[in-house]
Amino acid sequence: MNTADQIALVTGANRGIGRQFVLEPLDRGASKVYATARRPESLDFTDSRVVPCRCASTCSTTIPSPPPRRPPNGT
Ligand SMILES: NC(=O)c1ccc[n+]([C@@H]2O[C@H](COP(=O)([O-])OP(=O)(O)OC[C@H]3O[C@@H](n4cnc5c(N)ncnc54)[C@H](OP(=O)(O)O)[C@@H]3O)[C@@H](O)[C@H]2O)c1
Repeated sequence: MNTADQIALVTGANRGIGRQFVLEPLDRGASKVYATARRPESLDFTDSRVVPCRCASTCSTTIPSPPPRRPPNGT
């Protein structure tokens, strides 16, 4: 997968396979990785392209909403 200049969102990023899913796109030139965890303080990435975020899949208030859709005519 080509992740150069791409933006990634990784859940469960503090450990296990999620942590590796953050490191891989960084190694491959991603421009930004949003790394989520239930406890953001458990995210220990030092790369400035990583944006730590709080997200618990069982807590709807921590799950970000998608951006509003543009109408088809683009206005
Ligand atoms: N490891 C592999 O080789 C592999 C291969 C194929 C598929 N998978 C699948 O990938 C998933 C993760 O595997 P893993 O080995 O990385 O497991 P893991 O080391 O146990 O990590 C689980 C991750 O999920 C987070 N998490 C658990 N419940 C959550 C919730 N309610 N809201 C938000 N985050 C939650 C944990 O956060 P906390 O630290 O806060 O608990 C942790 O970051 C599993 O479903 C596994 O079956 C893994």
